[in-house]
Amino acid sequence: MNDDAARRGLHGYVAKLTAMRAGDDAHEVYEEWAPTYEADLVGGYGYTAPRIAADAMAAACPDREAEILDIGCGTGLVAEELAARGFSAIDGFDASPRMLAEARAKGLYRDLFEGDVRARGTLEPGRYDAVIAVGVFGAGHLGPEDLDRLARPVRAGGPIVLYSSALRWVEDDYPSHLRRVEEAGAWTVERTEETNYMDRIERPGWLVVARRGAGGAGHG
Ligand SMILES: C[S@@+](CC[C@H](N)C(=O)[O-])C[C@H]1O[C@@H](n2cnc3c(N)ncnc32)[C@H](O)[C@@H]1O
Repeated sequence: MNDDAARRGLHGYVAKLTAMRAGDDAHEVYEEWAPTYEADLVGGYGYTAPRIAADAMAAACPDREAEILDIGCGTGLVAEELAARGFSAIDGFDASPRMLAEARAKGLYRDLFEGDVRARGTLEPGRYDAVIAVGVFGAGHLGPEDLDRLARPVRAGGPIVLYSSALRWVEDDYPSHLRRVEEAGAWTVERTEETNYMDRIERPGWLVVARRGAGGAGHG
């Protein structure tokens, strides 16, 4: 652990991910971390991002029968929070087989798909009523240039709820990328908010609630 991570109260895999830079890839970290991910994040840090995002989805999507795709579902913490708010038709999508295995064991997802958001043709356009994605943006993960990919699987008018670390919000210029997607007609941003998402340390995160437009969402 380096001094900067220790000063910020970070250790283990969270310190490793936080230290990643552009061009790094977090895939192997999740493959190793899967069995202890929840104990570390929820137990160790007081991780609340799934709860914040599920509250936003419950407000944006009154229809509890809505078919929701959880992108970067990991071990299924988001499905737990959505199910607690009455949603039942939840599919999950993630690049890590071991994270997906943890999610499968929960029995909360209707279907689970392994894939990379960046791979061509993985997310069927307009297939879902809503999309939620928590913790999938940042170095080693998706970048702001990938924002429109998350709009693709949603039908016109459906909500898109995104929540991620704000550590690179300014540095990577997310606000102008959000505007770019809006100007292309892929979505209208209804709400953005910055909140802390770990109870035990200072860790700023950003919430975006958008509504799918009729415009194209880039990338095939
Ligand atoms: C911080 S975890 C978040 C998991 C879950 N949403 C949560 O809040 O606990 C990030 C997840 O995104 C997945 N992920 C990162 N980049 C991805 C990509 N390009 N395609 C699919 N999944 C990706 C990782 O495998 C990992 O499970």
